[in-house]
Amino acid sequence: MPLNRALILLGPPGAGKGTQAKRIAHNCSVPHLSTGDILREAIASGSALGQMVKPIMERGDLVPDDLVLHLVEERLSRPDSAGGVVLDGFPRTLPQAEQLDPILEKRGLGKPLVIDLFVNSDALLRRLTGRRMCSIGGEIYNIHDLPPKVQDICDIDGGKLIQRADDVAEVVKERLEAYEHQTKPLTEYYRSHGVLEVVDASKSIEEVNKSVSEILRKRAPGCDGHL
Ligand code: AP5
Ligand code: MG
Repeated sequence: MPLNRALILLGPPGAGKGTQAKRIAHNCSVPHLSTGDILREAIASGSALGQMVKPIMERGDLVPDDLVLHLVEERLSRPDSAGGVVLDGFPRTLPQAEQLDPILEKRGLGKPLVIDLFVNSDALLRRLTGRRMCSIGGEIYNIHDLPPKVQDICDIDGGKLIQRADDVAEVVKERLEAYEHQTKPLTEYYRSHGVLEVVDASKSIEEVNKSVSEILRKRAPGCDGHL
């Protein structure tokens, strides 16, 4: 059964938004919409959009709201989003959150359910500098906690594992600051709308998935997204 609503995963860089979003979206058969992945694909393709956002992302800043909103609105207008969607990395400013609400209403997805993945900042640096991603399918690994079976090779499709350009310590610092100033206020926005749940995401991937599933079972009974 599909989710029938939008699940928003909030949380700082390295909180595990992508890791959990992929699992939930797969198990609930709904799209995983990661604005970061869409923007990185645009950079890799060399498109005009990619050329525009490349320097912004390399600095660790956020790209302009209207640009991201346009990408999300287009993606949500496709038929496969009708049964719900997992949003990862969006919204991350108050204007993005405010403009998402009417888009979801228009698509018949109602109010979103928001899960804030909470992790302390020491763990984040270790996670981000240890992250490796598949250059073909985007599967997420970690050299410390979730290594592939064969070094630098994706278990799923044999793709070469790469490090993200923004996973170096000085850019991570900028990304964490952008999160503190521009994205963290969203927790209050969603709390005041009665749709916020918080999960301790410093636990293992499996334990975090279990906590998320319990929330989904309670608040969005269409699908619990369990591993
Ligand atoms: P984006 O791609 O969204 O990056 P981010 O928010 O910085 O988050 P990350 O992808 O780094 O972390 P994650 O929470 O997904 O963690 P993951 O699961 O990979 O955005 C990148 C850039 O794009 C932004 O800086 C901005 O420029 C631009 N952008 C994107 N969206 C935008 C928007 N809406 N508006 C404006 N600009 C936008 O896990 C990290 C590592 O930890 C992995 O190695 C994983 O294996 C490991 N891990 C995960 N969970 C656990 C666990 N429980 N225990 C141990 N290790 C774990
Ligand atoms: Mg991510």
